[in-house]
Amino acid sequence: MNICRTIAEFRALRGEYLSRSEVVALVPTMGFLHEAHASLMKIGRENADRVVVSIFVNPSQFNQAADLESYPRDEERDFALLRKEGVDAVFCPAAPEMYPEGFQSWVSVEEISRPWEGAGRPGHFRGVATVCSMLFNLVQPDVAVFGEKDFQQLRLIQQMVEDLKIPTRIMPGPLVRESDGLAMSSRNVRLSPSGREKALHISQSLFAVKERFLQGERKSELLVTSAKERLNSLPGVTANYLSIVNEKDLSECIEIVPEDGARIIATVTVDGVRLLDNLELEDRSRGV
Ligand code: PAF
Repeated sequence: MNICRTIAEFRALRGEYLSRSEVVALVPTMGFLHEAHASLMKIGRENADRVVVSIFVNPSQFNQAADLESYPRDEERDFALLRKEGVDAVFCPAAPEMYPEGFQSWVSVEEISRPWEGAGRPGHFRGVATVCSMLFNLVQPDVAVFGEKDFQQLRLIQQMVEDLKIPTRIMPGPLVRESDGLAMSSRNVRLSPSGREKALHISQSLFAVKERFLQGERKSELLVTSAKERLNSLPGVTANYLSIVNEKDLSECIEIVPEDGARIIATVTVDGVRLLDNLELEDRSRGV
């Protein structure tokens, strides 16, 4: 596996891939890798000759310094997982390589950045869109794989690629859960045993909403209210939002029209740890 810490190193390697007309897949990550990341790498592997993973804890997408500082990191463990997955190259720059002194160009995907995560974390999506634009320019991937756990992020990247005519195919990777239902996330490691118990209520609440939907309930408010009450009644737990949205534009559904594509999305803070989850209301792939 090639380990590239500088842009120059990575560009030289990319040149070699290009000279052999190899198809390249990119899996952008912030490290502290787990099985859900591995599943994205597998999708990359099935669709390309070369799989490149970036590991970069992007400072510009953190709106709280403490969150950036406490973001878990373990490079050696990450490299072991990458080798196990047969990844060809890892691009892991230091922050000044990506944001040198004088950096001043930002990418903003407007509408889709505003609600939900965007409302709770000002500037977050500007940071995500900017770093992903830089990665797309550097890696020039034919395919890039993004997990559906960060559903708003996935939609934002799809919109950006379409708007800016970036010649990369975005492939969504299904959300991966622990055996007890908790959505896999690098942040789960920050949960205490009791926090983890409480966090299990997130997926359980979403599945309960889906069950009522499948039984015929179509009024969004009726579906989500009891789920929010359940979560907010737990000590140290706040449902920042829990809503049913149109999968395309992420607008809130009042009355659900299943054919339009609806998804329940949630961000819940458990003992200070911000956890995301979401669930498609109908089990059919609509190729978002
Ligand atoms: O989802 C993530 O890990 C990050 O937001 C990403 C896409 C790697 C950009 O920093």
